[in-house]
Amino acid sequence: MTIHTTSKNWILETKQTAYALGLNDEGVVTHAYWGAKLPYITDYPAPPPPREWASFSGTEQMTPEEYPAYAGMKFIDPCLKVTFADGVRDAVLRFDKAETVDGELRLHLHDAHYLLHITLHYRSQVEYDLIERYVTVTNEGHDPITLERIWSAQWHLPQGEKYHLTHLAGRWFEEMNLYREPLMPGLKVLESRRMTTSHNHNPWFAVDKGHATEETGEVWFGVLAWSGNWKLSAEVTDAASTRINLGLNDWDFAWRLNAGESFVTPSSLAGYSAQGFGAASRNLHNYIRNELLPHGHALHKVLYNSWEATIFEVDIDSQTELAGLAAEMGVELFVVDDGWFHGRNHDRAGLGDWWADEQKFPQGLTPLIERVNKLGMDFGLWIEPEMVNPDSELYRQHPDWVIHFPTRARTEARNQLMLNMARPEVQTYLIGQLDKLLTNHNITFIKWDMNRNVSEPGWADAPGDPREIWVRYVQGVHHVWGTLRERHPQVFWQSCSGGGGRADLAMLRLADQIWTSDNTEPAKRLEIQEGFSHVFPANVMESWVTDMNPSHMPLEFRMHVSMAGSLGIGGHLRHWSEAERADAAKWIAYYKEIRPIIQLGQLYRLRSPQAEPFSAMQYMSQDGAAGVLMVFRTHLAAPVELPPLYLRGLEPTARYEVEGMAGSKSGLAWMNTGLYIHLPNFQSTVRRITRVD
Ligand code: GLA
Repeated sequence: MTIHTTSKNWILETKQTAYALGLNDEGVVTHAYWGAKLPYITDYPAPPPPREWASFSGTEQMTPEEYPAYAGMKFIDPCLKVTFADGVRDAVLRFDKAETVDGELRLHLHDAHYLLHITLHYRSQVEYDLIERYVTVTNEGHDPITLERIWSAQWHLPQGEKYHLTHLAGRWFEEMNLYREPLMPGLKVLESRRMTTSHNHNPWFAVDKGHATEETGEVWFGVLAWSGNWKLSAEVTDAASTRINLGLNDWDFAWRLNAGESFVTPSSLAGYSAQGFGAASRNLHNYIRNELLPHGHALHKVLYNSWEATIFEVDIDSQTELAGLAAEMGVELFVVDDGWFHGRNHDRAGLGDWWADEQKFPQGLTPLIERVNKLGMDFGLWIEPEMVNPDSELYRQHPDWVIHFPTRARTEARNQLMLNMARPEVQTYLIGQLDKLLTNHNITFIKWDMNRNVSEPGWADAPGDPREIWVRYVQGVHHVWGTLRERHPQVFWQSCSGGGGRADLAMLRLADQIWTSDNTEPAKRLEIQEGFSHVFPANVMESWVTDMNPSHMPLEFRMHVSMAGSLGIGGHLRHWSEAERADAAKWIAYYKEIRPIIQLGQLYRLRSPQAEPFSAMQYMSQDGAAGVLMVFRTHLAAPVELPPLYLRGLEPTARYEVEGMAGSKSGLAWMNTGLYIHLPNFQSTVRRITRVD
């Protein structure tokens, strides 16, 4: 049993944690507990009694309500804001009943006057110490209701404490920098208004009391599974109550809920870790691999992507030559990037016309695919379905299909406009074109790219409120992608938006891996990968060795950085010497041996590359029998003593060997005495860890 009902509360238990809520004396659904699992069900506290401070801070303001709607004297950031047809702009929610259906706790609430029904859904993801929440709202009346904000969850931290918020921020080419800052009274808002998850912030948070580390201390963390505009608002109220709200962004948002209609929010998942940030991310990794990813336990193939080699000069000869070189190196999947389709000779034309360019591929793609297959490799292809160049057949036929305001210029970025994915005819067109592509060719990998953000977000003939575009667009992307995935289950997909611009848990129901960043400079990439690893497992993290900054970095270092995730090669192989290709081949072979540990294992971040130039991480297989240690030194002024590396995740009394170190030692010894690895600047090492008893 993971969901318990007692006279004072509902309790959701996971393997090591618990989450409790209940009705307070005023019948309000109130938060009661989120922390370590307790021995007895009777141990969990009842919701705190209503408190009032002054006429300015009444009980509504002071109550840690699970899902506060804007109404009455609530000045905290609420989760729900609606306008009824008669102009009334608040929602007075009353508790109706609770039920447990399909392993899910459902609390039903309704408005005190209007026929508005809200269901709060809670799921216990037992194995991963995660609680999943989402909300359904149904209009049971006759008149439309306008939703102006509908968030997925408000997560409550134990009251009265001071907290730090850790989050990820950056920009294109520099995603996933870690920030950690004290939460002060008021609101801290992180969001995307770009129609994608964005390079700038990721819908992930971790909150601690200021002294948690990778391995120790309490951390409350969570995500929103959504690939469009989202918002996180972390509030410290006037009564020192800290809450983290996560949901669809309410900026420029409205949704007309007609009679009989329902709206379901995306899920927010959150967890409590008593073992620091490391355990928090390992739980997310395991959840993503076991529960979300379409092929969660399949090993991802070593790929070669020809983009940086041939840019738009893609044709059968150039690709065949590269494929030959890649196959010799042990590459398993050959991916043709941009430049293969109708009219695509530069970035000013072609997007929208998803068939092979007649000049470059007079016999279509099949001859190339056959050659690639003959070389023993799978074949993959790049697409950017949401986009259209004004210079394309599609745009000439359907200029009205793009997102625009009729009286405004259509701002182009990279010479392209965005198709309105909310429109059913756009979805049908794309499903038709891409289905044909996948049906008629032996394609096992698709890189789905998205290279600009939105502007002039108009939808002139929208059936509902035009501001629904923010959500309906994303639903359209999920629908097209989901349909193709269903029809072609053998295909592995990569989500790319100019690198890591669309990395989130909703995407990972569709995509198997994410192009982490367009930045492949290895030192920066280590930092980006560290930030990424707080949310996503290594099999999802696609990482290529390219020619960016090779002069400073030995090939070995570049290979090691990319071997920390799902390895790919993106350099111009014709410019690589035979010796370099042979060296890379050796590392690819080695990677194939250790990849089950990296892609499917447990990650321990030993030393942070964002914090210092000497960094390390360790992966352990799920059964704990084998591991990999990776150590990197970028630039550190000499002379300097390098610190010991304390291994993690070992059985204390089992014995282990670490490649290159003399003798075997107990797990406890490796974890407590550590080991010294001396590296000069811009050197790295990868060592196997083997359990020997
Ligand atoms: C984006 C991607 C690159 C490449 C180009 C092709 O920038 O991130 O990897 O696919 O588009 O135009």
